[in-house]
Amino acid sequence: MIRNIIEIGNPALREIAKDIPIEDIKSEATQQLVDDLIETMYHANGAGLAATQIAVPLRVCVIEVNQNPRYPYKPDIPLTVLINPVITFLSEERLSVYEGCLSVPNVRGEVERCPEIKVRALDREGAEIDITVKGITAGTFQHELDHLDGVVFIDKVKDSKTLCTLKEFAEFHEDQFRNTVKQIVEHYGS
Ligand code: NI
Repeated sequence: MIRNIIEIGNPALREIAKDIPIEDIKSEATQQLVDDLIETMYHANGAGLAATQIAVPLRVCVIEVNQNPRYPYKPDIPLTVLINPVITFLSEERLSVYEGCLSVPNVRGEVERCPEIKVRALDREGAEIDITVKGITAGTFQHELDHLDGVVFIDKVKDSKTLCTLKEFAEFHEDQFRNTVKQIVEHYGS
């Protein structure tokens, strides 16, 4: 079922989500929640969607990038379901990247992201996931995991002058950012 994506200003977006007990992962309710997240993400052309964005305070998010029309420059990411994810930063380095969010419609802004992270989580079958994620894709993962702590990307925009609407992003910043993305992808492989 396609769920309503809540937007900034809705207090539920700021809730710190709770772990899903392992014994609940295979329950009908959890499986339905995962299906709804995937369906809603596809419907909205999102690169990812966290349960907090549909006002469900549980630690689960989905990510997929497949020639995404909202982010045509993003490298592809296969469909990934992360339950109870834990992140480890593997680098002191930070990349400056423009981000957007389905819960902050029509806005882009520049945030700093770690270019190399390790994510441990469970998949929808309850199997362990232990992956290292790099580059632009690492930023996408950090964005989704932040949602589970009630953090929205605009909280991390250091220079509010980088905030822009989609229209002005396309006109004034997208070309340069595409070059930045190209360099990041060349360097990190994603
Ligand atoms: Ni978001």
